[in-house]
Amino acid sequence: MAIRFQQADVIGIDIVMPSMPGALPSNYRFEQLDLAEGIPDEYTGRSDIMHCRCTVQHMKDPPKLVNELVRCLKPALPRHYRTNELGGLVIIPEVIVGVLDEERKPVTSFFYNSEIDDEKNIINARKLSGIGGYLVFLDQLIRSPNYRAANVLLESTGVVRNIRFEEFLSPVGWAGKDIRHGEEIGALLCTMLKTIFETLYKKLISHGVPVVVVDALNERAIVELKERRYIAWNCTSAIASDEAAS
Ligand SMILES: C[S@@+](CC[C@H](N)C(=O)[O-])C[C@H]1O[C@@H](n2cnc3c(N)ncnc32)[C@H](O)[C@@H]1O
Repeated sequence: MAIRFQQADVIGIDIVMPSMPGALPSNYRFEQLDLAEGIPDEYTGRSDIMHCRCTVQHMKDPPKLVNELVRCLKPALPRHYRTNELGGLVIIPEVIVGVLDEERKPVTSFFYNSEIDDEKNIINARKLSGIGGYLVFLDQLIRSPNYRAANVLLESTGVVRNIRFEEFLSPVGWAGKDIRHGEEIGALLCTMLKTIFETLYKKLISHGVPVVVVDALNERAIVELKERRYIAWNCTSAIASDEAAS
């Protein structure tokens, strides 16, 4: 983002310091912060854009993070000063748990069932979606009971307007059909999913799923990366009203 928009000052935030290969652009800096504790007060009302991808859905208190994001937006000018000046823009893209086939039809995800024996779980792991199986497990692991879609959370802040909620598809390991930058997105998703599989493989075992079942799921997921799948996303955006930073 910093390279593409050189006139902008870009600040990246995560609780984990990411590995950043090569020299970083001079208009970029990273801050290691626990967003559960909020965003520092110095950022109140300062940002033109708050972009927060796939992190609200990782938080214990998603409404709190959405309120924090909105607090950091530049507020619109009060109505009696109305000019063309808009308030800051918040963008929240999030993954929708599940997988679609080449024809964009949902594929059933594998789900470990401790009530049936390992053999039956293995049969299910081999015939259902392994990518979906990993995503369902990740979702169970992290999703807070307070989680709502970002448009609902943004609406609840009471200080944004023009909420837009869109859904779109990313191809996995192929270019997809009629998808702009499909090839690039497909390759990126493949790499990202492989990393997720590696992390969750160990987590599944530590959560009591038998190794033979996790192995079957993992094999299926790796093969499925070549099966022309799609993953669905939603992207919600909104503009700060004049009360946003109050
Ligand atoms: C699915 S990843 C998305 C990463 C990145 N935003 C992206 O879109 O590529 C979720 C990120 O949320 C971060 N995260 C989870 N809890 C956090 C917290 N309390 N504070 C800051 N970051 C957190 C994780 O470290 C992880 O990098």
